[in-house]
Amino acid sequence: MSEKENQRKPGMSRRKFLTYTIASTGGFLASGVLFPMIRFAVDPLLQKGADTKFVDVGPVEEFGKEPKSVEFRIKRKDGWYKPEEGEKATAWVQREGNEILALSPICKHLGCTVKWEGGGHQEQFYCPCHGGLYTKDGINVPGTPPNAPLDMYDYKVENGRLLLGAIKQRGGA
Ligand code: FES
Repeated sequence: MSEKENQRKPGMSRRKFLTYTIASTGGFLASGVLFPMIRFAVDPLLQKGADTKFVDVGPVEEFGKEPKSVEFRIKRKDGWYKPEEGEKATAWVQREGNEILALSPICKHLGCTVKWEGGGHQEQFYCPCHGGLYTKDGINVPGTPPNAPLDMYDYKVENGRLLLGAIKQRGGA
C-alpha cells in the first residue's frame, strides 16, 4: 500500500459522495414526474362517482318464480368513460316471496349471453356459444364449460319498486 493511500482519512470517499448525490437528485426528479402520472392514472377510481347507483326496474310484484329478463340503463362512471345515456344492462330476475335473485346474463365461460330455458333445456339457463348450463339460481352445472356461477345484482325494494345496483361476483369452483 502506498503512503498516499495510508494518509486517506476515514469517512466518505469523493466517489461515494458523488454517487449518493446523483442518485438522490435523480430519485427526487423522478418522483416529481412519476407522482402526477400515477395520480392522473388512478384519480377516476378515487372519485365518489365511480360507484354504481341503484336503478328502478319496475314494480316488485311483476316478478315471480319464473326468471324474467329486464333491460335497464346504468349511469356509471367507469374510469374516464361516462356514457350520457347510461350503459345498457340486462338481468334475469326471479322472486319467491321477499327473496329476490337478479342474475347477470353474462356467461362466466367466455362472456356470451345466457337464456332461460334456451336450447330446450328445461329449468336451466343455457349459453348457446359452447353449451354452458346453469341451474335456476345461476349455479354452473358441472361438466359444462363455465367454471363459476352467474354474477348477481345487488338489489333493494323501495315503495314496492325493485331497484338493481352493482354486480357482485359469486366466485367459482
Ligand atoms: S361462453 Fe358460455 S359456454 Fe362458452
